[in-house]
Amino acid sequence: MSSVLSAITGSAAAADYDDSALLGVYKLPAPVFVAGRGSRLIDAEGREYLDFTSGLGVNALGYGDDGIAEALAVGAASGLLHASNLFRTAPAAELARELVARSFADKVFFCNSGGEANEAAFKFARRWAGAAGGAAKHEIVALHGSFHGRLFGSLAATDRPAYQEPFRPLMPGVRFIPVGDEAAARAAISAERTAAVIAEPVQGEGGVHPIPAEYLQLLRELTTQAGAAFILDEVQCGLGRTGRLFAYEAAGVVPDIVTLAKPLAGGLPMGAVLLTETVASAILPGDHGTTFGGGPAVARVALEVVRRLAAPEFLAEVRWKAERLRAALERLVGNGVVRSVRGVGLMIGIELSEPAAPRVAAALERGLLVCSAGERVVRLLPPLAIEPADLDAGCAILAGVLA
Ligand SMILES: Cc1ncc(COP(=O)(O)O)c(C=O)c1O
Repeated sequence: MSSVLSAITGSAAAADYDDSALLGVYKLPAPVFVAGRGSRLIDAEGREYLDFTSGLGVNALGYGDDGIAEALAVGAASGLLHASNLFRTAPAAELARELVARSFADKVFFCNSGGEANEAAFKFARRWAGAAGGAAKHEIVALHGSFHGRLFGSLAATDRPAYQEPFRPLMPGVRFIPVGDEAAARAAISAERTAAVIAEPVQGEGGVHPIPAEYLQLLRELTTQAGAAFILDEVQCGLGRTGRLFAYEAAGVVPDIVTLAKPLAGGLPMGAVLLTETVASAILPGDHGTTFGGGPAVARVALEVVRRLAAPEFLAEVRWKAERLRAALERLVGNGVVRSVRGVGLMIGIELSEPAAPRVAAALERGLLVCSAGERVVRLLPPLAIEPADLDAGCAILAGVLA
């Protein structure tokens, strides 16, 4: 790896960089990243950055992980990167069994991203609810502050008017309710109309807001009464991020559907929908599909990732590191810039008394990558496998940046 790294870094990549042909949907800072190792990224000038975004929650095992590289190499060496869903391949079947064995679910559907997983979840919920309640039972209830993706269905359930307005009409039939509002939940969730309620156990893009366990329990109760599916979007907070394999475990609720993506395949695109047998029994051949979903090479990598993330000692370490990070950040509260710190596990929001963007840029200048979530929140999503020394080094930079 090191010879590969030195071959890439110090190359003329920065000078050659020309993004004039890339669609301008992202505003990008200057560094051009060419390599990564552990919790660090290396730019074309050879400068190292500590990454407290882990590729927006994707690189849970860090960069340059040997186990991921090996699984990928085995997949490539087999010559079977892809075979299509017209034919059987073993890794997806094994990965599905692994996810079923470790969760509430009985069945799994594979796709390629978080947005796609939520679209599929909505279709499955409507299929199941509609089988009992007819076409009127199609509504999706989502929470204020939610983010579920950028596709027409997932965007419709995302509480971001600015993201939605230019693209209307979106999927109809979505109602939003405020988090914690029991009366609104009771009014919105009905046996006649509701197909599903969707919630992120910890809202990520919306500012890192954990949803109170009692409210998730209420939504579970109301969906059960209404014969609607309870969907938990664990695209960002799932797979070890909270210190449990699934965030729902800590809330004491059992959902009907869980959606996953980000860290699932170690940086390769993969999403998954986990379902109970009850919901799955309503889904028939031909109801849904996707060309790449559950491809053999990606699934092989995901198996490696899921087994490592699910190991009890790994999750215990995540919880221990989360406490250490939290304690360091709490010391900044009340310093005039930092108002509060919230989150669960290694998913943390630092609420500032001023806009977050200049502080995010200042952290980059000092070699630390962080991101924002909303206007005044700095969001931290360090790799779950981060070394304690890197965690401390990042905290020291943050203490300077947020002073
Ligand atoms: C909770 C949640 N759901 C869905 C998505 C959409 O995932 P993707 O960008 O893979 O479509 C995201 C992405 O940030 C997310 O955080």
